[in-house]
Amino acid sequence: MQSKFEQLKTEALLAIKSVADKMQLEDLENKILGRKNGELTNLMKGLKDLTDDARKVVGALANEVKKEIELAMENKKNELLMLDWSKAIEKERLDITQPALPQTESGTFHPNTIIQKDLEDFFTSMGFAVLDGPELESDFFNFSAVNVPENHPARDMQDTFYIKNHPGLVMRTHTSSMQVRAMLKQGAPLRAIVPGKCYRNESTDPRHEHTFYQLEGFVIDENITLANMKGVLEAVAKHLYGEETQVRLRPKFYPFVEPGVNGEVTCFICKGKGCRVCKNTGWLEIFGAGMIHPNVLKEGKVDTTKYQGFAFGFGLTRLVMLKYGIEDIRHLQSGDLKFLKQF
Ligand code: DAH
Repeated sequence: MQSKFEQLKTEALLAIKSVADKMQLEDLENKILGRKNGELTNLMKGLKDLTDDARKVVGALANEVKKEIELAMENKKNELLMLDWSKAIEKERLDITQPALPQTESGTFHPNTIIQKDLEDFFTSMGFAVLDGPELESDFFNFSAVNVPENHPARDMQDTFYIKNHPGLVMRTHTSSMQVRAMLKQGAPLRAIVPGKCYRNESTDPRHEHTFYQLEGFVIDENITLANMKGVLEAVAKHLYGEETQVRLRPKFYPFVEPGVNGEVTCFICKGKGCRVCKNTGWLEIFGAGMIHPNVLKEGKVDTTKYQGFAFGFGLTRLVMLKYGIEDIRHLQSGDLKFLKQF
């Protein structure tokens, strides 16, 4: 009987060694150690027919054999587990040398960005710097510094978003807020544009939106006159709408300039004949401008006995709408892909 145990052990250990997966191991376990018909279980059942003395010796051997087989199975189980893991890790390995998947769709620039980039190129070619500034602005730079003191009725021209519990802060209502910041930082002479987002407390409709883009510009130097201003604005108008485009300036009050003008260009759709877009006037209103008010230059610590300047502000959003014939301003901020993919 002893030899039967020994033989079983040898066979079992060999079988365990050649097992290739978990299923095979479970089958083998059942075949040898299974409670009902396991080979070892059956052999052990024979112990009860032995004499007391013999049972002691063979019983001890039987237990030894059982333990060894169990241990071998446990080891095999762990070995298989490790194999599974390394297979899983291998599967997850990232091959960074793999070529990229074919691109099915690529983004396009927002129409605002297209016009902004185009104008940035144009102005830099004339020696203007492109400046960026904070959208959450101080009451001072947005209003007071550009000659709109507190309680001045001119503040009503721009419905402002104020910030709860922060009385000194506003969402900038125009990019003119960068005029004095730029003067204080760089001093005169100065030539810069500031494209960017502005905010106003508007009830939205096809022509009004709480968030829109402007492009502010200013030039400060010696011997600057209204003629320089008209020259630059005419160059912009021709760049945007063609060589034959004309510019018309009409007086308009803006607190930060003196004199101030409202700038119109000949309607690029009807070429000045009159149409729906220009409301039959032949002219499109596209910018405000003027000679920078001495109070503003003083806030910027510019020597007004030596320097003068002009400033202008375009509604960048308005230019975009005119150029692409967009009938509702709300499309621009909608994030609607059907709209955006057209550009
Ligand atoms: N800041 C004005 C607005 O938002 C636009 C403007 C008008 C800017 C005249 C200027 C200017 O620099 O000179 O309506």
